Amino acid sequence: MQNGVTVWFTGLSGAGKTTLSKLVEEKLRQSGARVELLDGDILRRNFTLDLGFSRADRMKNIALAAYIAKLLTQNGVIVLASFITPYQEMRNYCRGEIGPLIEVYVKCPLTECMRRDVKGLYAKALRGEIVGFTGVSDPFEEPVNPDIVVETDKQDADQCALRIVSFVQKYIQEREPQ
Ligand code: ADX
Repeated sequence: MQNGVTVWFTGLSGAGKTTLSKLVEEKLRQSGARVELLDGDILRRNFTLDLGFSRADRMKNIALAAYIAKLLTQNGVIVLASFITPYQEMRNYCRGEIGPLIEVYVKCPLTECMRRDVKGLYAKALRGEIVGFTGVSDPFEEPVNPDIVVETDKQDADQCALRIVSFVQKYIQEREPQ
């Protein structure tokens, strides 16, 4: 059976976490790997709609995601999890809970995320219509020990995805029983 691992994408809203995880999914599937996506927007819309964005609620959201990721990882799946995960404590929790984990910091300056504003949420946050919005009125702690840093304002998405795919493939090969 394939070795499982969770690839945890952390970064600001609009940094490119979902886009990259989808590209990585496509490339890994092409190589025959078993892959599942776990995305903050989807989990929240379908299962944690009652949770808001306080530190405690974010932690509950992340804890659920980490639990699902752990179950899948234990069963040989490559899990691609995209959540802002704004606090270092949450990232440490995921690493401790899941075990085999590759932390990918999807780095993009706040100004660029605001410029992209794909969902129009930064504009709302700046108008004060959303309180506690990450990067605007809520913290995003810089990851202290990411395994990979991709800078989506400097490299195109395909290049970033390829770097992640090679890292994942190497990681899995190195963990295969000799
Ligand atoms: S996390 O903090 O718990 O990791 P998660 O990744 O699940 O966040 O959800 C983030 C998404 O929720 C954003 O991409 C955005 O679409 C939406 N969102 C709505 N309100 C907020 C907010 N106050 N802060 C951050 N994201 C928000």
